[in-house]
Amino acid sequence: MSQPDSANRYRQLAGGYDASAQRTMALRRSTIVRLALQPGDVVLDVGCGTGLSFPLLLDAVGASGLVIGVESSPEMLALALARERTELAGWPNVILIESSMENAVLPRTVDAALFNYTHDVLRSPAALANIFRQTENSAQVAAAGIKHPPRWLDPLRLYRRFKSRSCYINSEGLDTPWDLLTGFVPDLRIESTLFGSGFIAWGQYRHDVPE
Ligand SMILES: C[S@@+](CC[C@H](N)C(=O)[O-])C[C@H]1O[C@@H](n2cnc3c(N)ncnc32)[C@H](O)[C@@H]1O
Repeated sequence: MSQPDSANRYRQLAGGYDASAQRTMALRRSTIVRLALQPGDVVLDVGCGTGLSFPLLLDAVGASGLVIGVESSPEMLALALARERTELAGWPNVILIESSMENAVLPRTVDAALFNYTHDVLRSPAALANIFRQTENSAQVAAAGIKHPPRWLDPLRLYRRFKSRSCYINSEGLDTPWDLLTGFVPDLRIESTLFGSGFIAWGQYRHDVPE
């Protein structure tokens, strides 16, 4: 995957992103519930996009918690900043960082990490290594995204490929997009969504996993 490619892609998608993401809001909520956030937690929103998850994350971590959003596309991040200034005006506890996840330096270690529809990050060993270097042991991790439906649903497979082709650069790993995560989250549980064309994965990060 190339970062400039992804940034170019999201330069074009940013304007219409929130409208297109409305159909997966229920999935977003279910994924965030799997983080089992507590008041005071620090949560990382990986590839936070326009910040659609921020209100839900802030509700869960409360005024004593912190939401850190990292996003590589300046256009997506600009919309997240706008959301922070308007909708979230009463919440000082959001930190936004413009960076690739491969290079992001977080202001502190995190208690939870959300990967909501971030296929390119899930398929980047360098991004995962960088994220988990800055994550507390036993942190709760939740990911949701697209996957190939089973073979017997081939028409749906084609439809899925058509619908989501613009949202990721790396089309590798769509059978089991979560598999690199299992190196960090050994108890990763997977639930199929959207008739097998999506998934939610969640579990606890363990830094003491034997190689
Ligand atoms: C489909 S959007 C999802 C946005 C957000 N997570 C959400 O739930 O609405 C994928 C986002 O990941 C960002 N992204 C892709 N690769 C990235 C990387 N290596 N580091 C940081 N952000 C990345 C893209 O710029 C885009 O905003």
